[in-house]
Amino acid sequence: MPGAAGTIRVGDLRVNRMGYGAMRVCGPDVWGPPKDRAAAHRVLRRAVELGVNFFDTADSYGPHVNEELIAEALYPYPDGLVIATKGGLLRPHRHAWDPDGRPIHLRGALEGSLKRLKLECIELYQWHAPDPKVPFAESVGALAEMQRAGKIRHLGLSNVSVRQLAEARRIAPIVSVQNRYNLEDRSADDVLAECEKLGIAFLPWFPLGAGGCLKSAKLKKIAARLGATAAQVALAWLIARSKAMLPIPGTASSAHLEENLAAAKITLSADDLAALG
Ligand SMILES: NC(=O)c1ccc[n+]([C@@H]2O[C@H](COP(=O)([O-])OP(=O)(O)OC[C@H]3O[C@@H](n4cnc5c(N)ncnc54)[C@H](OP(=O)(O)O)[C@@H]3O)[C@@H](O)[C@H]2O)c1
Repeated sequence: MPGAAGTIRVGDLRVNRMGYGAMRVCGPDVWGPPKDRAAAHRVLRRAVELGVNFFDTADSYGPHVNEELIAEALYPYPDGLVIATKGGLLRPHRHAWDPDGRPIHLRGALEGSLKRLKLECIELYQWHAPDPKVPFAESVGALAEMQRAGKIRHLGLSNVSVRQLAEARRIAPIVSVQNRYNLEDRSADDVLAECEKLGIAFLPWFPLGAGGCLKSAKLKKIAARLGATAAQVALAWLIARSKAMLPIPGTASSAHLEENLAAAKITLSADDLAALG
């Protein structure tokens, strides 16, 4: 089902063009363990059963809990499953997401992710966000060094501008960017266009606006006509928006997971796309 919208290249990997953002299976505020650990395992396993072969996570989700849950539920991993994680943010408390782009931190973060995910190499390691306190090139240089050491297969960026993407690409090959993007927040349109031009993947975070997009009257009207849900139309719009797009909707619910993945089968008409702008 998630392959109904075709596949997309992430470096030399090819994955179905609807992935899964695992962040939501942590406790509230992406802090601590979920109330029901077995239920979290079930959602993660269900995603694989339904054909998802691209999972997005990060060491800061939980922190650590999200990666641990993925390994508990899915290790040994099925062939072809890409687990993309991220490093570069600290969680001193449940409401803080503080950048730490120091090479010493990034090296420790990667080692922690490798251990928790039970991997020797991360297939897509994304730098979670630039740290204004650390020279940009210093952080990217440290990641490039870890890639040369064989611990990272492909490097991705998150929360970057077009200028930062260009600067990173002068230091190391970059195969993806993950920025906030959805029907109601298109502020990363320039980065999306750049990814399309470069032939690299764009992963929209908050693809449903964390649920906020689903209140749109326009969306609901199109959904009702298609016999679909607002979430499905919001995801189908993302897929139609660019061939670089790799949505990673997040949910802790198996029902929402099935609903979201089924959006890969929906093709919006030119009129629908025009109505959504
Ligand atoms: N790089 C970054 O800085 C960054 C930041 C944020 C997120 N991310 C990544 O991006 C992924 C996606 O973002 P997200 O999970 O925050 O936001 P999202 O996908 O836009 O929305 C998830 C929210 O919408 C609800 N939802 C999901 N499917 C639904 C449906 N079919 N109907 C109604 N409600 C639905 C979920 O609740 P239920 O659990 O009840 O379904 C959850 O509260 C994350 O999982 C994470 O991997 C990255």
